[in-house]
Amino acid sequence: MQKRARNAATPVVVIAILTAGAPSTPAAGQEYTNLQVLPADITRSELNRLMLDNLRGLGLPRRANEGCLFCHVGSMATPTGEWDWASDEKPQKRTARAMMAMVEDINDRHLAEIERNWDSEVGCYTCHAGRTNPMPLTEVLSREYASGGVEGLLEAYRTLRSRYFAADAYDFRTPVLAQVADEIAAAGDVEEAAAIHRANIEYSDDTKAYHGLIHLRMAEALDSDGIDAMVRRYDELKAEHPAEAFDSVLLSFLGWRLMRSEQEAAGLRLFELNHSEYPDAYNTTEDLAYGRSLSGDPAGAIVLAEAWLARHPDHELGQRLLEDLSRR
Ligand code: HEC
Ligand code: HEC
Repeated sequence: MQKRARNAATPVVVIAILTAGAPSTPAAGQEYTNLQVLPADITRSELNRLMLDNLRGLGLPRRANEGCLFCHVGSMATPTGEWDWASDEKPQKRTARAMMAMVEDINDRHLAEIERNWDSEVGCYTCHAGRTNPMPLTEVLSREYASGGVEGLLEAYRTLRSRYFAADAYDFRTPVLAQVADEIAAAGDVEEAAAIHRANIEYSDDTKAYHGLIHLRMAEALDSDGIDAMVRRYDELKAEHPAEAFDSVLLSFLGWRLMRSEQEAAGLRLFELNHSEYPDAYNTTEDLAYGRSLSGDPAGAIVLAEAWLARHPDHELGQRLLEDLSRR
């Protein structure tokens, strides 16, 4: 804590702001009785500053010291001067103590050894980013799914979303829930995955949220009835979902996934379909050219790249594509 103690020499004004409304913990002059990580001679303002860092790092409420109760023993019904600040009864406090020692070690030992670019210190916020549980959202949701199924997962998602949305605590962007659903589908729970994709569509105003559900249904048709069935399913899905959900990336993504999982014939078929749906998109041309090249039709790949360049003579990516295909 040497470094932190030195930081206590920050201008008085700053200290005053940080400790404004600070709690009436043990009265001035009265000693702290259970410090195992912090130095015994720590000043009252420094201790308060660190405790407020704890609150901020974990996103706990500062109002009336309520957040302190996450670690300390007391009650909102009694004055804070009567709370048992020294008690180690709560496991959260014991964990926090280990965390404080870890943070000190990171800053004073490990970071001290490297040449510093920013000279910023690691604090609770670095990992916790305003939440008590620092796991990434995907992990939190997988665990909720394992213990409470789809309902448990979606309930947890709703709760976290309403509490943390627009804070930097969790990543609520569209691909996150889709990724969790994909993992669940890969483990064989297809309908559960579909329910999660549907929830993602509801939460997101990004039409890409539809992609996961469409991929899931197409892959399902492929697995059970083969390539033609997958293509028929695509047509049905087009009738079922809004037109904005369909773009030239949709089939590209699934096509590459199939190519990578040694289902080349199915992947190539999707690239052909995508190219016929979006003939003017460069990405569908590139996908189909590489798809052909990879599945033993290098001449067909070159024909395609040449046709593109005939229509777009100055297209740089197209030129590079042709060069690359010719080298293969
Ligand atoms: C995330 C857990 C956590 C939160 C939240 C927290 N503290 Fe602490 N607090 C600790 C730990 C851990 C220690 C002991 C540090 C040590 O062993 O050196 C401690 C020690 C203290 C002590 C010294 C007690 C003694 O006599 O040994 C006081 C006073 C205190 N905290 C006040 C507060 C106040 C006020 C708040 C709210 C603004 C707060 N704490 C929030 C974890 C927390
Ligand atoms: C290097 C990353 C990292 C930093 C920095 C960090 N933590 Fe943690 N913290 C974790 C991880 C990981 C867990 C979850 C441990 C587990 O698996 O249960 C955790 C868990 C906790 C928990 C238990 C939460 C609960 O609900 O039981 C508390 C309390 C906590 N940290 C407090 C702190 C405090 C206070 C600080 C700053 C002094 C801090 N942490 C800094 C990574 C970090």
